[in-house]
Amino acid sequence: MEDFIRLEHITKRFGGLTALNDVSFSIKSGEALGLCGANGSGKSTIIKILAGVLKPDSGSLFIEGEKISGYDSLAGIRKGISVIYQDLSLFPTLTVLENICLMRLIEQRKIISVIERERGRVQAILDDLGVSIKTGDIAGELPIASQQLIAIARALNNDSKLIVLDEPTTALTGAEISLLFKIIGKLKNSGISVIFVSHKTDEIMEICDKVTVLRDGMVVASKSIAETGVTDIETLIVGQAAEYPPTENLPADARPVMEVKKLSRKNNFKDISFTLRHGEILGVIGLLGSGRTELAQSLFGMFPADSGEIFIDGEMRVINSVQKAVKSGIAYVPEDRLSEGLVIRYPIKDNTVLATLDAFRNKLTFLDNAKIKETAERWINTLSTKAASSEHPVSSLSGGNQQKVVLAKWLESNPKVLILDGPTVGIDIGSKIGIFKFIKEMVKEKGVGVILISDEIKEIAHNSHRVIIMRNGRIGKVLESNEISEEAIHAILNQQKQEL
Ligand SMILES: Nc1ncnc2c1ncn2[C@@H]1O[C@H](COP(=O)(O)OP(=O)(O)OP(=O)(O)O)[C@@H](O)[C@H]1O
Ligand SMILES: [Mg+2]
Repeated sequence: MEDFIRLEHITKRFGGLTALNDVSFSIKSGEALGLCGANGSGKSTIIKILAGVLKPDSGSLFIEGEKISGYDSLAGIRKGISVIYQDLSLFPTLTVLENICLMRLIEQRKIISVIERERGRVQAILDDLGVSIKTGDIAGELPIASQQLIAIARALNNDSKLIVLDEPTTALTGAEISLLFKIIGKLKNSGISVIFVSHKTDEIMEICDKVTVLRDGMVVASKSIAETGVTDIETLIVGQAAEYPPTENLPADARPVMEVKKLSRKNNFKDISFTLRHGEILGVIGLLGSGRTELAQSLFGMFPADSGEIFIDGEMRVINSVQKAVKSGIAYVPEDRLSEGLVIRYPIKDNTVLATLDAFRNKLTFLDNAKIKETAERWINTLSTKAASSEHPVSSLSGGNQQKVVLAKWLESNPKVLILDGPTVGIDIGSKIGIFKFIKEMVKEKGVGVILISDEIKEIAHNSHRVIIMRNGRIGKVLESNEISEEAIHAILNQQKQEL
């Protein structure tokens, strides 16, 4: 079969930084290509070039064998290329029908009033996808997974021949991911090509026909899925074997840092009791709706519990506000990095010290800029953040590197109890390993207690001293260190799913 699209020798620089260096690959009709690589390796830059949003400095683009010149975003849409970014770019207050048709009508210079005529056709596209979305629904009122399907329907309505999905599964539950994969399967069967960008190597194995791995803007491998595997791909991404450091046993005399007794909050969780010891990493996992995030937010004072007690270093604390939580030595890295308050126009250095500004004031209460810079640069090294300098704005960083700035900000606050909710969503496997290496040293040296909430079984299994598996707002099962394994956690979660 002929290639639908081919990139040849694409190079793209931002100032002195070479984001893409001589990149070539191709995709046939009906084929799905997995695009992976570390944070900052150039994935999103490729996508922006395909969308016509960025122009390469050199190299060529061929679509159906024809060399394309004068390419821009309109030409991209006309040539059948649709990019679905993580923010989906929908208009939240408009209906599903309007979201799917508007851009196309505008592009065809048709008057908007003809939109009614499209309703039947658009509903047929949605029905074909096998989703229960109605054309009259307001886009912003639907769950993220449905909004993503609207973006796919919009691409189909534009007669797209290549659909690019940039990290599409980060905000989806297991069931929603299954539905998305079923739909990607249908797209492929109808001859549409797909580029699937993800840090989740197992998903690439499941849905793609081939994979291209980038490192520092260069293609280090392009392979068919049949001739590779998760470990192989991860080794290619990192450049060496990718394994978490071992979790050392806690000292037998480690004292409790946080004790939670019969904590309950109506409709969220009930009778939660556990002890977190100094130096311990306590993994928390559970299906959607298990109450994990609500529990974390309660411990951080955002939504205080109705009843129950929290002790920090043996002293009872009433944690009914974020200020009280912070005062008690609790820090929280939330699940949703964008709402978390990175000021992305500001330099990396200022964002790094945002939670701890007072520590950087000198006697005259002026901020000590040299100290701020030195601190930020230390974190850039520790977390191997890909940044030209700490003076650059956060907005110049790739998605995963922005997440590292959030992490640095809270690690710098030197808490007694650190709650991490999905801390490595969007972070590449090599950086994850580096982050956990750091966290394991930190808990050992400073005695910090860590509550690690994650969807990723592998991350929980390899980095926890103990694992709590939550279920319907309660603690369903606790695994002690000698009982923890990926298989054991899989088995328990699978059983829970079947009992639903
Ligand atoms: N507008 C920009 N100005 C300066 N540098 C940029 C800009 N956009 C991207 N870069 C740099 O180009 C490199 C590639 O970034 P890109 O966003 O393509 O990475 P990525 O592979 O998508 O990473 P992630 O997995 O974190 O999303 C990074 O070093 C990034 O900092
Ligand atoms: Mg990206």
